Amino acid sequence: MEDPGIAERLVDSLVRPDGSPKKRPVHTIGIGATGSFLASHVARDYCISKHFQGTETPVTVRFSNGSGSAVQHDGWSDVRGMATRFHLDDGTATDLIAMTLPEFFTPTPETFLDFALAAKPAKFSRESPWRKILDMLKLTPPMRDPYPGETVRPDEGAMRFADRNGYAQLAVFQAAAIGAPASYDRASYHAVHTFVITAPDGTRRWVRFTWQPIAGVLDTNPNAPPEDVYLQDKLRERLALAPARFSLMMSIGEIGDAFDDPTRPWPPHRVRVMMGTLTLDTVVKDQEADCERLSFNPGLLTDGIEPSGDLVLRARKDVYEISSKRRGAVPCPFSRSQANDE
Ligand code: HEM
Repeated sequence: MEDPGIAERLVDSLVRPDGSPKKRPVHTIGIGATGSFLASHVARDYCISKHFQGTETPVTVRFSNGSGSAVQHDGWSDVRGMATRFHLDDGTATDLIAMTLPEFFTPTPETFLDFALAAKPAKFSRESPWRKILDMLKLTPPMRDPYPGETVRPDEGAMRFADRNGYAQLAVFQAAAIGAPASYDRASYHAVHTFVITAPDGTRRWVRFTWQPIAGVLDTNPNAPPEDVYLQDKLRERLALAPARFSLMMSIGEIGDAFDDPTRPWPPHRVRVMMGTLTLDTVVKDQEADCERLSFNPGLLTDGIEPSGDLVLRARKDVYEISSKRRGAVPCPFSRSQANDE
């Protein structure tokens, strides 16, 4: 039976004692930019949604650091987020929320609650060289050393959770080794879940979306001392010079692929379709009003795109609404769009 209080408890599990009630409990530090999305000429053959029909759709994007810390450590190894709102021509909107991790930690909201509680940040102490060698012999990724000033580690509890729960291993190990992007526009962002799209002839396809940066993926040097504050300045500098572009790539699932489980990758040779190009040209002027106070929501879909049976995706609609209400943000525009509320 579905647990009615799970969304509240999921939000509670992410709140940090040092967090601000007016900010997001995760992906706390972010920056907004605007631009437009232009669908490729084949996109409309696959999906009837308005933003895939070939006319330019205005977008708002929020890039973020995954951490719930309100202190900016851009150079630390961390997942990054890219939340995109497509402003459709009938006044409605649809969101696509993506992150640099290709798979998720758990297959259900309930297991994510266990994970979030197990993975609370813990005190960071440097691991001995002997322990590192032992880890390597046991084929466990050795723990990295703390960055200067880093007193709590985000991944020790997650590693222990992954030792006990095989489904979490891929995402936890990827997150532990993810590094820091040279700039927000030099990373790939994955929407992780499977969505179901409808073509003009009624054909329904199970698909996954990824944003690929046209400038290419580039990380910082992991052996150099990390800079604390550079990602927002880099984006400002970049957009002042020339627009940043991303391709929206769509993989089409086949029978036997994991449609409802965001912890499991699909085979790499699935058919991929280029659905369009995102062009970002301006950093929003009023970051507080036009970015931080917005509420992106993965359940904000539109005609032609539905959620798959993925229970994590379905739970996130309420989770994000509760979180945005708690921090006093502008409500997500569900009333004017088709929401994922079945
Ligand atoms: C059960 C699983 C999850 C929970 C409980 C959860 C929880 C949250 C919460 C509470 C927020 C803040 C929302 C707000 O206040 O506006 C958030 C933001 C975010 N989450 Fe998740 N999340 C989950 C899964 C995911 C997944 C699978 C992805 C990747 C696709 C993801 C990517 C993001 C991003 C990028 C943001 C920042 C959005 C923004 O800039 O407004 N999350 N998440």
